[in-house]
Amino acid sequence: MENQDIAEGQVETTTSDEERRAHHAAAMMLVRQYPDPVLRVPADAVEEVNGDVRRLVERMTDVMRQSHGVGLAAPQLGVLRRVLVYRVSSDGDVHVLINPELRERSDETQSETEGCLSLLGGDLQVAVERPVRVVVAGVDADGEPVEVDAEGLEARVIQHEIDHLDGVLIVDRASKDDRKAALRDLRLRA
Ligand code: NI
Repeated sequence: MENQDIAEGQVETTTSDEERRAHHAAAMMLVRQYPDPVLRVPADAVEEVNGDVRRLVERMTDVMRQSHGVGLAAPQLGVLRRVLVYRVSSDGDVHVLINPELRERSDETQSETEGCLSLLGGDLQVAVERPVRVVVAGVDADGEPVEVDAEGLEARVIQHEIDHLDGVLIVDRASKDDRKAALRDLRLRA
C-alpha cells in the first residue's frame, strides 16, 4: 500500500527511477501480480502462531523491505493466511498483525492515492477513500493479543492490507471512472 510516493513500496522519494524500476522488478518476481487468482481468495485465520507462521512473517518482512514497501499481506506471497506486516516509514519498525479485525472506524473519511505491489508492481495509482482512523485487534508474532489505534497513513496501510486478506484490491474501492481507467491499464500492461 502507499501514497503517491508511499506505495506499498516506495517511501524513499530520493530513489532514482532506475533503482525504482529495479525494486519493482524484484517485487514482481516475488509478489503475486494481478490477475493472479490467489489475490481474490479470502484468507484463512491462523489457528496457532507457530514456527511456520513466524517464518512466514520473516519472509514477508524481507520482501516488504526489498521492495521498499510499507505493507504486505500473506496472500501477496501466495499464502492464504490472515497475516500482514506494515511500517509507516522506510526505516520504521515493522508491525505484525495476525488475524486482524477492524473494531472501530471513524465516520470521517479521506481520499488519498494508493499503490499496491500486486498491481503493476506498485506502478498503478488510484485514489481510495477510507476512514481516517481505525481500531484493529489481532495477535502479534508471539501470539500475544494486540490492539492498534491508528490514524493517517498507518490506518490507511492497515486497511489496505486487511482488504488483501479479504481478496479485495484498491481497484475495487476506486471511483467508477478511476476503476475503468485502472482496469484498462492492467489489461494493457499486466
Ligand atoms: Ni496491496
